Amino acid sequence: MNKNIKLEVRNITKIFGKDPQKVISLLNKGLSKNEIFEKTKQTIGLNNVNFEVYDGEIFVIMGLSGSGKSTLLRCLNRLIEPTGGDILIDGKNITDMDPQELRSARRNKIGMVFQNFALLPHRSVLDNVAYGLEIQGIPKEERYSQALEAIETVGLKGHEHSRITQLSGGMKQRVGLARALANDPDILLMDEAFSALDPLIRGDMQDELLALEDRVQKTIIFVSHDLDEALKIGDRIALMKDGEVVQIGTPEEILTEPADSYVSKFVAGVDRSKILVAESVMKRPEPLVPINSGPRVAIQLMKDHGISSIYVVEGKNRRLKGILMIGDALEALKTGKSLEAVMIPDIPRVAPDLPLNEVIPLIAESQYPLAVVNDSGKLLGIIVRGSVLGALAISGEIGQDEIPDGKASEERDSGENIPEEKPPEKMVLIGKNEGEAGPPPAGSGSPGSIINNGIDSGPVPVEAEAKNEAPAKAPARSDAMPGPEVKTC
Ligand SMILES: Nc1ncnc2c1ncn2[C@@H]1O[C@H](COP(=O)(O)OP(=O)(O)OP(=O)(O)O)[C@@H](O)[C@H]1O
Ligand SMILES: [Mg+2]
Repeated sequence: MNKNIKLEVRNITKIFGKDPQKVISLLNKGLSKNEIFEKTKQTIGLNNVNFEVYDGEIFVIMGLSGSGKSTLLRCLNRLIEPTGGDILIDGKNITDMDPQELRSARRNKIGMVFQNFALLPHRSVLDNVAYGLEIQGIPKEERYSQALEAIETVGLKGHEHSRITQLSGGMKQRVGLARALANDPDILLMDEAFSALDPLIRGDMQDELLALEDRVQKTIIFVSHDLDEALKIGDRIALMKDGEVVQIGTPEEILTEPADSYVSKFVAGVDRSKILVAESVMKRPEPLVPINSGPRVAIQLMKDHGISSIYVVEGKNRRLKGILMIGDALEALKTGKSLEAVMIPDIPRVAPDLPLNEVIPLIAESQYPLAVVNDSGKLLGIIVRGSVLGALAISGEIGQDEIPDGKASEERDSGENIPEEKPPEKMVLIGKNEGEAGPPPAGSGSPGSIINNGIDSGPVPVEAEAKNEAPAKAPARSDAMPGPEVKTC
């Protein structure tokens, strides 16, 4: 999705009643929708609604019954005439168009899918899908060819000669969608399009809409009163109340930064682990060491940042190659090996859009933080256990007391990585290296102390390791770094 504006709604107001000016003056005095209805028997459908929809996005309008969703959607193609305001599609003001221009815009730019399918029961699937083209006077061959393409797009190939009465609810919904797609509109308006379907078919249709969106890149404005549906399919969501938009944001923004108590109540009870994704809980991976650097550079970076492991990347694109432990870096220094030879290449990786409910089992099993990488292998961030717990706790999915030692919040605040609870085996090897590592190399400066994790145990002086001395107060090796020596960055 790019950020070109496809549709702009500016100050749209819709008053259902004979004297809208009176309603507007009462609105300006601060009266509520209900008070105005009591006084005037006129209804505020929409009150000064503003938003933009980007080219290729799925923009969901949601809210309780009567909040104005259908009124807003129908204003977008002027099935309902707004009382005031402007609607621009590709910069052209729909509200200024004469009937002919409007008809042409509706044919070429905007398709609509209705909740109740609105099909012609005695016609075949093909003739229903081709209906809009037929009334435009498009010759039979051409309209059938376009209709067949749309039928295939919605997965109904082979059913084109079935009668509507022979179809299930889900199939009828597909026919409605195919009819809207047949004249290849830029914008699809869908009003509770899946509400009449049973939950399983509804889920399938949502998946197919997302797949369709990937293929055909329409701009879709989708009305729903179902929060789960909105969170699943919406790139952004506008939440309405009493004819006003109270918040517009991505599903994550709506969940994590609700604009007011109405939105908070609306989203209470949502399973956030399905909505939040890897990207939303990852930390910046800093510092990183280029793969062609020597071990001295890696050791210095770890020293400067007070960490004992570091991610190894290649090229300007930061392609993730592996993770390097301080012990292995010291060994490389001693033996003259390259970083590539001593790093651990096999670290768990996840895609940025992996939902947290799939991240959680992976991180539970993993010795290392999870690396978040994009399709081309670029390291975008890392995820440690505490940040997942922290994100869910912030949004109310788990209680603070479920976070081990309450550390998640500390680390969240500091923006630091959260160390793993179990020391990775590789870190235990540092202990084994104690007797082997030589002093720090001349010219590299004293490595000073590599701070462990700042939480579970005190600093583990690298000099002690390097000089073949046990660190002061160091307990037995398996306990020496009870926490997470892998404080990556
Ligand atoms: N033709 C009309 N005449 C008078 N009032 C109307 C008309 N259409 C809608 N309204 C009122 O406008 C408000 C918004 O209605 P709208 O149908 O847009 O709500 P909605 O959010 O789509 O609700 P639902 O989820 O029930 O479909 C409601 O108060 C409704 O009563
Ligand atoms: Mg409605």
